[in-house]
Order: sequence, then structure tokens, then C-alpha cells
Amino acid sequence: MKQRIVLLISGRGSNMEAILQNSRSGILKDHCEIVAVIANRSQAAGLQIASDYGVQTYTIPSKGKTREVFEADLIKQIDLLEVDLIVLAGFMRILTPAFTQNYPKKIINIHPADTSEHQGVDGYAWAWEKGLEESAITVHYVDEGLDTGQVIGKCKVDLRGAKSLEDVEKLGLRAEHVFYSQMLCSVLKETQKAESLINFDGP
Ligand code: GRF
Repeated sequence: MKQRIVLLISGRGSNMEAILQNSRSGILKDHCEIVAVIANRSQAAGLQIASDYGVQTYTIPSKGKTREVFEADLIKQIDLLEVDLIVLAGFMRILTPAFTQNYPKKIINIHPADTSEHQGVDGYAWAWEKGLEESAITVHYVDEGLDTGQVIGKCKVDLRGAKSLEDVEKLGLRAEHVFYSQMLCSVLKETQKAESLINFDGP
């Protein structure tokens, strides 16, 4: 059975678009359905992209709300959607335990650095300022810490050709757009395998 996914975004939505493309005609096609995109900012450019794909969108503003109120609103909407996975794609809000504890191993994020070396924002600026020749991007489950959740996979990014921060970002994003769907695919396949074991008629 296809798993139901909601994508959470805050801005541009390039990872969201790559996942949408893969769910329509790429490696995610047989494994999931993107049932909705939720943004915490009404100006998030990704909202228009999602609409163009015919995906249901929601804006749940975080600005001017306490974390408690925002997360309660988010939980209400997500639970109405009855999803199997919550996929963060450039979602720029820290989620507190009040949110994450509702969805253990159900929230996945992509981080533009190796989470064991750099946590928080500006992963590409960090790699550029350190002059790294090679960096990594990490896909991981989200727990109550900042980029501390169990790693699903890491992908090396060769930065030797980068002459500017923009180059670093371009190289990193190119990898993100392929790698995120690959990691989601392996998570979804594992879940499907587990389901078919549970459904096995026996003895
Ligand atoms: C990506 O670099 C992602 O790793 C990070 O935020 C950025 C979002 O970009 N979490 P986009 O909105 O997917 O284009």
C-alpha cells in the first residue's frame, strides 16, 4: 500500500519539488502519495509550486504565535490528513518535544551538512567558511534535539570545484534533490516489507 506523506516547507521548496516529481514519475511512484504540503509562511514560494502540481496546500503561520500554539495547530492539521510520514523539506522551525513525541520515527529531515559535525542553520556557509573540499548531507529522523535524530543516510558532496558559497550551495542542492528521494524510498520499502510480514497468513 502507498504510504501517505505530508511535506512541511518554509520557503523555496526545491527539495519538495524533487520529491513531488519522484512521487509522480520517479523512484517514489509506487511507494507513496504526497497528500499535502504545509508551510509555516504564507510567502513560501514552494506553495505555488505545490499548487501547480495539484497538491493540497495549507498555510499554518508560525509568526506571532508561541511554539505551543503553533505546534498544536500543526498537529491538528497533520492528524486530519492521516499521514504515515512527515517529511521536512526546508522547514525552518525548531520542533519541540510536544510535537516530535507525537510522531516517533515518523518525521524525516534533510540537513545540508554532516549532522555529527554541524548542527543548525547555514550548513553550506559553514562548509564554505571552513574551506572544506568535501562535505556531506544527512537525511535523518527528527527527535527532540537539534539535528540529533537517528541517521538514515549520508551522502558525500565533492566541493573541490566550488569557487563561491553559491557554488557550494549549487553542488549540495544537486545532491540533496537526488539523495532525499533515495533515502525516503528505502524507508518506505522497509515499512512496506514490515507490513507484508504482518499481513502474512499463517501458520
Ligand atoms: C536545503 O538546503 C535543506 O537541506 C535545508 O534547507 C534548504 C531548503 O531548500 N534544510 P529548499 O526549500 O528545499 O529549496
